[in-house]
Amino acid sequence: MKKISRRGFLAAAGLSVAALALTACGGSASSVASSAAASSVAGSAAASAGAAGDLATVVAGKLTMATNATFPPYEMTTDSGEIEGIDVDTAKAIAEKLGLELQIDDMDFDAALLSVQQGKADIVMAGVTVTDERKAVMDFSDSYATGIQSIIVPNDSDIASPDDLAGKKIGTQRGTTGYIYCSDDFGEDSVVAYDNGLTAVQALNNGQVDAVVIDDAPAKEYVAANPGLKVLDTSYAEEDYAIGMAKGSALEDAVNKALEELKADGTLQSIVDKYINAN
Ligand code: ARG
Repeated sequence: MKKISRRGFLAAAGLSVAALALTACGGSASSVASSAAASSVAGSAAASAGAAGDLATVVAGKLTMATNATFPPYEMTTDSGEIEGIDVDTAKAIAEKLGLELQIDDMDFDAALLSVQQGKADIVMAGVTVTDERKAVMDFSDSYATGIQSIIVPNDSDIASPDDLAGKKIGTQRGTTGYIYCSDDFGEDSVVAYDNGLTAVQALNNGQVDAVVIDDAPAKEYVAANPGLKVLDTSYAEEDYAIGMAKGSALEDAVNKALEELKADGTLQSIVDKYINAN
């Protein structure tokens, strides 16, 4: 879908133009309508950003979230096919504050990052780490969580610290910071990029790689489900997670305001407790 260029024009034109854009583009949701709804609910921040911002094309009344639901406990797919997790509940709470209905689009992680850049989704929430490279191509909300790049190895491995990864085969998820850092530090030839963390862990189980580098929260979950593997008690990198949006997104101020409220009233913490601290 192409991004329709329109600056101030659309912000003034409102929902009828959003509907037109929808017909023209065949379907994805839009921050035009979103920002219209957001500005009525979340106040003038979104409205003024909307007037100045470069708006994406989206469906009326919806907040579209791109994600990659293979990353427990932030986003995972249940046996019955439902997508749940910390990011999902947080996005729902944000959408509610903006008076929008959350629509989740599940895809590969690298595609989810691209999706907001191309105006196909309003936000990407996928345990996304803020990096300078990503900041050059997208905007980020304030951070809502921290993560650590952890190392998973077989119980009997001789790998005990990040330095020991030198000369080993390292499994990662494609497009993630785990992949990027390991390629930078140990050379691309040493790093294998899998579709998702689970596939990387399966490759570790099968002896195709010597270690997997992935965020600590999913690492713990994968190891709990795979006897014979352990997470090293050492951190390879420390990171901040934030919500990604298109550069100049009209939603940014409203999303930050919602996030701030969810932090202040304890909602965010109770979501984290539901998925992490409770068990
Ligand atoms: N935090 C890492 C990154 O931003 C990994 C995120 C992977 N997320 C996912 N839903 N698969 O690169």
